[in-house]
Amino acid sequence: MFAVSARAFSTSSINNAKVAVLGAAGGIGQPLSLLLKESTLVSDLALYDIANTPGVAADLSHINTKSTVKGYTGADQLGAALKGASVVVIPAGVPRKPGMTRDDLFNTNASIVMNLAKAAAQHCPKALIAIIANPVNSTVPIVAEVFKKAGVYDPKRIFGVTTLDIVRANTFVAQARDLDPQAVNVPVIGGHAGITILPLISQSSPKVTFNDAAELEKLTVRIQNAGTEVVDAKAGAGSATLSMAYAGARFTFSLLKGLKGQKAVECAFVESSVTKVPFFATPIALGPEGVKENLGLGLLSDFEKKKLEALFPELEASIKKGVEFVAKNY
Ligand SMILES: NC(=O)c1ccc[n+]([C@@H]2O[C@H](COP(=O)([O-])OP(=O)(O)OC[C@H]3O[C@@H](n4cnc5c(N)ncnc54)[C@H](O)[C@@H]3O)[C@@H](O)[C@H]2O)c1
Repeated sequence: MFAVSARAFSTSSINNAKVAVLGAAGGIGQPLSLLLKESTLVSDLALYDIANTPGVAADLSHINTKSTVKGYTGADQLGAALKGASVVVIPAGVPRKPGMTRDDLFNTNASIVMNLAKAAAQHCPKALIAIIANPVNSTVPIVAEVFKKAGVYDPKRIFGVTTLDIVRANTFVAQARDLDPQAVNVPVIGGHAGITILPLISQSSPKVTFNDAAELEKLTVRIQNAGTEVVDAKAGAGSATLSMAYAGARFTFSLLKGLKGQKAVECAFVESSVTKVPFFATPIALGPEGVKENLGLGLLSDFEKKKLEALFPELEASIKKGVEFVAKNY
C-alpha cells in the first residue's frame, strides 16, 4: 500500500519539470535530448535551435515515455521555448577542430551565449542555467553579466557544466587501478580548459594511491587533454558529443533532483569565494534554489597545490575576457 502511494507520488505530483535545450539539433543536443526524453524527472522537453528542431522533436516525440516534446526554431520562438523552464541547458555554439583551443571558440560562441542568456533572463529568470558551450571559463561569466544587466542575477542558479571532466577522470582512474568505473568518484576542480582542469586524485573514492610521480602526472595530463583526444580522433568532425551528452544528462538530472529536495552533489563551475578567482569549479551540494552549499576544495596533496597555483592566471584571464565582452557588446 505504502509502496503504491509512494510510487504514485514520485511519478505524478512532483515530476513537472520543463527542461529547455538550446542548441538541441547539434552533436551534443540530440543525444542529450534523447537521454532527457528517457527520464521520468522531465515532464516537458523544449528543443530550440536555429535549424532542424522540427525533425528532432518529431523523432523524439514518438518515444513512449511520458514527457512532451516540442521543437522551436528561430529567434521569434525562443521565448516560448524558455517560458516555464525549470532548467535551461545550453550546448549551442561551434565545437573545436584539431589544433584549436577552447578559447579559439570565443569569438563565435560569446555572442551566441550572450543572446541566449538575454532571452533566458527575460523569459525564465528563475531557471537553473547549465552552460555547456565553450569556452566555459568565459561563457559562464558572460551569462552572469547578462543576468546582472537584466537585474535578475542569482549566482546560485548559473552553472558551467564540467561533468565530463569528472566522468573522464573516473574512467581513467578506474582503468589504471582495475576498478569499476561506475564506483569511482574523482572530484575535478578549477575550470574547463587545459591546465585549469584539476583532478583531485588524492580525494578519489575509493581511495587510490599513485606513488610513482610520473604516473600521477601522466594521468592528470591525460584528464586535462582528454577533450583534445576526441577532437583529434574525430579529425575535423567536431569534439566530444556522446560522452558530453551523457555528462550533460547526468548534470541535468542532479539539478532536477536538487530542485525536488533530493540529495545531489556535482562539481560545477560557479561564482565562488573559495579561491582568489571569482568563478571556480568545486563540488556543489544542489538544492531547490540551485547551489545549496559550496563544498570547497577539501584537502589537497602537494602535487595538487602546485597545479592549483599554476592554473589561476589562465582562469582569471578567461573570466575577465567574458566579463569584458558583455561590458562592450551587451
Ligand atoms: N562543457 C563541456 O565539457 C563540453 C564538451 C564538449 C563540447 N562542448 C561545447 O559544446 C558546444 C556544442 O558542441 P556540439 O558538438 O554539439 O556542436 P554542433 O555544431 O554539433 O552543435 C551546435 C548546435 O548549436 C546550434 N546553434 C548555433 N547557434 C545557435 C543559436 N544562436 N541558438 C541556438 N542554437 C544555435 C547549431 O545549429 C548546432 O545545432 C561547443 O561549444 C563545444 O565546444 C562543451
